[in-house]
Amino acid sequence: MAGRIPREFIDDILARADIVEIIDSRVRLKKAGKNYQACCPFHNEKSPSFTVAQDKQFYHCFGCGAHGNAISFLMEFDRLEFPEAVEELAQIMGLEVPREQGNKPEKTQAQKAQQANDYELMEQASRFYAHQLKAHPEKDKAVEYLKGRGLSGEVVKAFGIGYAPSGWDSLLGQFGKTPQLRQQMQELKLVNQNDNGRVYDFFRERIMFPIRDKRGRVIGFGGRVLGEGSPKYLNSPETRIFHKGYELYGLYQARQHNRKLERIVIVEGYMDVVALAQFDINYAVASLGTATTSEQLQTLFRSVPEVICCYDGDRAGRDAAWRAMENALPQLKDGTQMKFLFLPDGEDPDTMVRQIGKDAFEEKLKQGVPLSQFFFSSLLQKHQLGSAEGKAALKAEAVPLIEQIQGENQKAILLEELSKLLGEQNKYLLEQDMAAANRMSKMKTADTSLPNKSRISPIRMLLRLLLDTPQLATECDQVDLRALADLRISGMDLLQQVYGYCVATPNANTARLLEYFRDHPQAAQLGKLLLWEHDVRSENLQQVFIDSITKLIDWHFTSRMEELLAKSRVDKLSQAEKQELNLLMKEQKR
Ligand code: UTP
Ligand code: MN
Repeated sequence: MAGRIPREFIDDILARADIVEIIDSRVRLKKAGKNYQACCPFHNEKSPSFTVAQDKQFYHCFGCGAHGNAISFLMEFDRLEFPEAVEELAQIMGLEVPREQGNKPEKTQAQKAQQANDYELMEQASRFYAHQLKAHPEKDKAVEYLKGRGLSGEVVKAFGIGYAPSGWDSLLGQFGKTPQLRQQMQELKLVNQNDNGRVYDFFRERIMFPIRDKRGRVIGFGGRVLGEGSPKYLNSPETRIFHKGYELYGLYQARQHNRKLERIVIVEGYMDVVALAQFDINYAVASLGTATTSEQLQTLFRSVPEVICCYDGDRAGRDAAWRAMENALPQLKDGTQMKFLFLPDGEDPDTMVRQIGKDAFEEKLKQGVPLSQFFFSSLLQKHQLGSAEGKAALKAEAVPLIEQIQGENQKAILLEELSKLLGEQNKYLLEQDMAAANRMSKMKTADTSLPNKSRISPIRMLLRLLLDTPQLATECDQVDLRALADLRISGMDLLQQVYGYCVATPNANTARLLEYFRDHPQAAQLGKLLLWEHDVRSENLQQVFIDSITKLIDWHFTSRMEELLAKSRVDKLSQAEKQELNLLMKEQKR
């Protein structure tokens, strides 16, 4: 494991970074009053409800509730893990991420250096292959092959396509200068070792397609034979930096080309991605010689509202499409859609776009089969509606699938369709099934509802104001919330912790505060509070803050008084309790 990133570094980087700049480089922002706005990148919408507050270094979407600081944004938008997002942010700002020394400091440091080194070596290898297209004595074979496939020099360059020469040690000879380097090359699967211990190039005499991750780093290769041969494509095996199920060929290039992609088309092959790009269809991606996984689909639906699966029209293509659809169902929210385009026998996107051109191909994409249609036409091939058994089997297969869909409208459309197929008399039963399923899912989400404004407790108001303006803790120093720490009120603990942080961190902002509490057990509660608009004008913040504390004390005294009064009716109060009650009643009269 890599060492922990020191908290001070994270705090410092958030204090220095500008969230507006970071988000704007990925989602075009427009100034709107004090804040910035855009259409939310995390759900589909027509009018902007995604807001970025520069003063708070915080974003949030009124539409879908997404929110957070610069690190959260990178995690969500670039689909990075926390440490990766910090690395990315540091890189943007030209900083090096320090690591706390764990039990095995050397290993930690070594591993970190190793990773950076791995990416570097992969990048160099891809440059080496690209260079062979220009320099190798046998380059003409490769160049002719690419020309024969109709690839332009431009697109070859854009995708960094290269040539692995024949021979056993072209790459090895170039980079395997030391035993350590040879070991690393072997671990990255750039070279193989046979049973006699002989080491040799993994890719020989192949057209090379470097595969980049979301951040543009080369993590693996696909290599095609020039002409006939088996296997037609050789892919890098999994390594410590290459995980096929998570990556998509062409996604980095598509995003580089257009930061605000409207749709992405999934195709089967590297060549398809590249050919489409050559025809100015710069939004194709391919999974890496495997079925499209739910992780890949999740990545896609976080990037765009529309995903079109473009597969062969044959059995295998339809099966692949069905599997992709099954993996996509849980990602389908209202406002996102999935379509299918099946190409005629013997064609793939590469051959097709070369035949019919960009416009006609895009027209085909537009005319793609909607998910609902594909869903039922596939199921109806398996189940015959003519019999009661067939209908029951259809229902048994369809309902659990439909239930996985997140979007209520999409779910409703498919259900409606299903009830039509089953016959009206079944509709009632079906609705009952779904209502039951819905109730279950509502129960799970009930506690994420926003706090009700009219019943906002002073504790919540105080928390909310501190989240917004941590300075209130130091500005309103005529009251010290810590004096109330012992009051047994729900939420007091969290309030004390947040208040304590604010007092100790005079120049905190929303982003840094949230970061400090990221792993706190009640972090989700803080996030929820932030989504509630408090409507307090900035000139009234201090007043409302102090009023809330007063209200909190009153509130506490009143409820304590009621508690003691209630007890006195059924039980004898102790001397101390009687005194307390007296005081409270006097206080109440004032
Ligand atoms: P296809 O066989 O459809 O090839 O494989 P293609 O993409 O049309 O390639 P060209 O046009 O003949 O050059 C589709 C994808 O399946 C994986 C590769 O990712 C390929 O791009 N594949 C195919 C392999 O991994 N190994 C193979 O031997 C064949
Ligand atoms: Mn092809």
